[in-house]
Amino acid sequence: MDQITRGYSVPDHVPADLVVDVDMYDIPGGREDAQGAWRDLQTRGPLSWSPRNGGHWIATTGDAVFELLRDAKHFSSEYVAIPKIEGKIRMAPIEMDPPDHAAYRKTIMPLFTSDAVDALGEQARALCVELIEEFRASGRCEFIQDFAFKFPLGIFLKMMGLPDEDRMYLRDLVERFVTSPDLDVKIAMEAELHAYIDRALDQRVANPRDDATTMILNATFEGRPYSRDEMKGTIILLLFAGLDTVAGFLSFITLHLAQRPDHAAYIRTQIGDETAMHNVAQELLRRFAIANLGRIMGADYEYHGTQLKKGDMVLLPTSIFNMDPERIDNPDAVDFQRATTKHVTFGSGPHTCAGALLARKEIRIFLEEWLARIPEFRLDPDHPPEARALPLNQVMTLPLRWDV
Ligand code: HEM
Repeated sequence: MDQITRGYSVPDHVPADLVVDVDMYDIPGGREDAQGAWRDLQTRGPLSWSPRNGGHWIATTGDAVFELLRDAKHFSSEYVAIPKIEGKIRMAPIEMDPPDHAAYRKTIMPLFTSDAVDALGEQARALCVELIEEFRASGRCEFIQDFAFKFPLGIFLKMMGLPDEDRMYLRDLVERFVTSPDLDVKIAMEAELHAYIDRALDQRVANPRDDATTMILNATFEGRPYSRDEMKGTIILLLFAGLDTVAGFLSFITLHLAQRPDHAAYIRTQIGDETAMHNVAQELLRRFAIANLGRIMGADYEYHGTQLKKGDMVLLPTSIFNMDPERIDNPDAVDFQRATTKHVTFGSGPHTCAGALLARKEIRIFLEEWLARIPEFRLDPDHPPEARALPLNQVMTLPLRWDV
């Protein structure tokens, strides 16, 4: 990373030699290899400072990413998005710190028990097949529009008991929120989302149903009912947490498999073998991480000789851990036979992904149904894919072709 200081405001407590020019909404090299681009921010570390997007620290070693993810005492989750949006509703449990965090997390965990995930999984498989069959016979699709978002969004709507027709409206809202660094855009999108959720909650007040929206409407914290803001924050989190993450991950692995038909062929032969499929998923999760997480300093704190101040934002890029050459040989390669595939793609510590079981189910269903129905597939030579290294890495377009 280049060192720069001129033209940027760098707080007095940040040493000039730790300042680097990194725009987390435009990481160089992200189009070629989004995760590799994040990993390339690795330094001898453990911390660098970017003056962009309001200014923030970046954890730049695998050890630092791992340690800080697990240190909720000093590295608060009150704000997980950079730049931070003041005065917005906190999303529970992801933006709550211990000790309150545990109670908020407990509220949503009934949605992610193995029975609940199995039940949702049956509907997810039917949806997956339906979406693939819409384009299978044409020998082509634009994976992002035709599948990647429709699949997890359809599952979210089923979980919440919301109408399928809302799929594209919600997709558009979330997309603009996640990809724009513009605070005004984010605030406007959030207001629209709140109005949508308010309407859904009002409907459940009148007509309670057996769905997650009604469950959250009836949630309590320390014996009192959730406030409207707590309900909205929880629903917004379930939408955000399960949408761009799953869509992004499925897109990156499909992009990979289009370029490595030998890997697609290998996975086809392993379907039905629990251990082999688990290892496949683990290695893909290690290599194609999505989330780069924000934290805020709750108090002044010195970390390995670097002074951080209360209110400083800190970015934790998960690929710096997953692809750390100190920990793992040839980290860029996808290797289904690796001895260790340890990763922090689902985070680590108290905020470890609550929906990981559901996410794994969605990944498994996708691999099984896609590879069973779509023969060897390839990139469209006339329309190359476009990926970006963002706070949540995304593939923007992924046109695919296969013979019919
Ligand atoms: C491949 C897909 C997914 C990835 C890569 C992923 C990744 C993550 C990560 C890294 C965190 C930790 C955030 C932090 O430390 O600040 C997290 C938290 C969370 N995820 Fe996921 N996630 C995925 C799918 C899902 C799904 C399908 C759901 C369900 C709707 C979900 C629900 C949650 C929730 C509720 C939290 C907050 C947990 C807490 O704060 O205690 N995620 N996820």
